Amino acid sequence: MAHSGEVTKAVVPVAGLGTRFLPATKVTPKVMMPVVDKPAIQYVVEEAASAGLSDVLLITGEGQQSITDHFERAYDLEARLTARGNQKALAQVRAPSELAKVSYVRQDSPRGLGHAVLCAAEHVGDEPFAVLLGDDLIGKRDDLLARMIAARKRYGGSIVALMEVPHEQISSYGCAAFKPTDDPDIVAVTDLIEKPDASEAPSNWIVIGRYVCDPSIFAVLRETPAGRGGEIQLTDALRTLAIADRTRAGVDGGGVHGVLFRGRRYDTGNKQDFLRTTVEFACSRPDLAPEFVSWLREYLETLPQT
Ligand code: G1P
Repeated sequence: MAHSGEVTKAVVPVAGLGTRFLPATKVTPKVMMPVVDKPAIQYVVEEAASAGLSDVLLITGEGQQSITDHFERAYDLEARLTARGNQKALAQVRAPSELAKVSYVRQDSPRGLGHAVLCAAEHVGDEPFAVLLGDDLIGKRDDLLARMIAARKRYGGSIVALMEVPHEQISSYGCAAFKPTDDPDIVAVTDLIEKPDASEAPSNWIVIGRYVCDPSIFAVLRETPAGRGGEIQLTDALRTLAIADRTRAGVDGGGVHGVLFRGRRYDTGNKQDFLRTTVEFACSRPDLAPEFVSWLREYLETLPQT
């Protein structure tokens, strides 16, 4: 059965404090940290736009004006660049404002990812929508969102993206239990646990920062008590939808499916991964790679073996 309701809206929570990147994040929001020459959040909005999501709602916190400014026109700067005839810079300044219709809603108190998503209820209305976490970058060629939107069309309900990680990393993520479907890349999620102890994890598959949610998630989030870390967790609300579907009880939300992801995920919220992401992205840029890669090779030779 095909499920109607096009996915056209993306919700991007960006209100995190970025404590792992202090002092850089004292006045600069974490998602504005540049990866090569673009703030991390621009890659995320580009990904949403290239999956056809032309309406992007940022859930912002205090002191995050620079994020929304980045996606608006900068008339003074554009006028100065025009006067200088610098077309290349002008195009770079305009590009973020032309990606999508970007708007924002302010999350008044940081009460968790589930609470951030709930702040989008009015804007989203009764439509399925995508959630993209501002810290997670997904390899361009991996087409993850398009696969998730196709899965929503086929199965309805909500869709999570699942990635296999070494067992010792499980406790940092949401973790899924699931059964196979007739599609080897899609599973039926039977349970979800936010940051379980490794000994209690039902699998080695974690929920990564891309979701397609059924609008019924909002009613569930309103009833979801604070969970792990005293915060309202999106994972817990999705668990309610997954379990309700399994037991056919109570909540009408169409269950949860998982798209298995075997591509590249870059967690820019983590210092080691942020450094790797910067190097990897630089190495794949035709304008930078030739010089940078040969420098990198030479530099590595000079480092002592550890
Ligand atoms: C959030 C989610 C978690 C998910 C992770 C992916 O956690 O709560 O379920 O696995 O994102 O990056 P956070 O990283 O915000 O602690």
